[in-house]
Amino acid sequence: MTCRRNAPRFLAATLATSLAALAPAFASDAIVDAQGDTVVVAPGHASLQKWLLPETAPSPADNVTTPERVALGKKLFFDPRLSGTGRSSCATCHLPERGWSDGYPKSIRFMGEVMTRASPTLVNTGYNTIQQWDGRSPTLEHQAANGMSATGSMNGGSEKPVTGVANIGRIKGYVDAFERAYPGEPLNVATLAKAISAFERSIVSRNSPFDRWVRGDATALTAEQVRGFRVFIDPAGGNCSVCHAPPNFTDNGFHNLGLMSFGEDNPDVGRFKQRPVALLKGAFKTPTLRDVALSAPYFHDGSARNLREVVDHYVTGGQVRSNLSPNMRPLALGPEDRAALVAFMEALTTPTEVFVYPVLPP
Ligand code: HEC
Ligand code: HEC
Repeated sequence: MTCRRNAPRFLAATLATSLAALAPAFASDAIVDAQGDTVVVAPGHASLQKWLLPETAPSPADNVTTPERVALGKKLFFDPRLSGTGRSSCATCHLPERGWSDGYPKSIRFMGEVMTRASPTLVNTGYNTIQQWDGRSPTLEHQAANGMSATGSMNGGSEKPVTGVANIGRIKGYVDAFERAYPGEPLNVATLAKAISAFERSIVSRNSPFDRWVRGDATALTAEQVRGFRVFIDPAGGNCSVCHAPPNFTDNGFHNLGLMSFGEDNPDVGRFKQRPVALLKGAFKTPTLRDVALSAPYFHDGSARNLREVVDHYVTGGQVRSNLSPNMRPLALGPEDRAALVAFMEALTTPTEVFVYPVLPP
């Protein structure tokens, strides 16, 4: 009896002790975040290191990243000869200077055909465990091979999927580069996809002001941005990190956010088409938020023009609520908290030098 009555007090004492051990100077800044972890919102604090990404994105055993593979994939990514018509490259819709997206609400492919969804950023996509807004590609290699198929983003639909590959196979510079990067492997759709994926795994953002602050640089973030981070991870605030989880600001999961477009006739059902589970109707993949300030407009349907509009959407708790994620609810955030959230997301951009485009083999 006595023992049981004392238990809560004992637990509270233990918690207080372990918090004090974590960081005595900042104990008052401790909160339980959306992951259920007690974290201390202070630069360099041990409890925040879970937000840091490993230096390199993981690569599969049959396509281990090497400099030769990345260099080859970089050329292919920018080469329109990879497409059926010879007029489109991966970079047509994933431009480095547009945050590896294209700036359109929905992508446009050959002959001006508007696609059904926005081009997602490719930043840090190598750290993700599933690809595409609806997760229909398990790996980058699968996505790249698909993109080059007859109906993929790289072809007009009528072109034969092999045309682009045949083009590449006729270029001596590529044949030699393939021999160096993938000795003994044939030059085909599979190896092309491997090389492109190796390059995509090198599109990494992990040195933003936020990352530097997490590593201990107290001057990297403004007070407003720190406030925004706190709102971001606080379940009673923005509750953003319940889905935009550490380290890559994504849970690699799928959620229906109640966007207006889900209320239209025959809406895009997203993940449901791959996995017919009721909760997944209208659910799309949680994107990373590193470098997010560079890739407007936002959401799979391009419906938010800027980060302020994104935050305004979350504050409503979702506009079409017929199949809303249980983690969406109206947020009690005043104008200062909303502005702080935007300021925080702007601190997720890694400053880059001017991107150097590859020289394509003649
Ligand atoms: C015409 C525009 C267009 C072209 C060209 C294009 N893409 Fe995309 N890309 C998109 C769109 C739109 C999506 C989202 C499709 C979806 O989820 O339904 C996408 C999705 C992706 C994804 C998934 C990213 C993620 O985080 O889920 C990757 C990776 C990708 N593209 C790489 C490539 C590569 C590699 C090429 C060249 C072989 C390419 N894209 C060519 C428009 C394009
Ligand atoms: C229930 C899970 C969930 C919560 C909570 C959540 N997000 Fe998202 N977020 C997503 C998903 C899923 C998408 C993509 C949805 C789509 O396009 O249909 C997304 C998209 C975004 C985008 C657009 C990114 C892009 O590249 O288009 C931003 C910015 C964003 N969220 C910020 C936030 C902020 C800030 C919060 C907290 C106020 C938040 N999110 C809360 C799951 C969530």
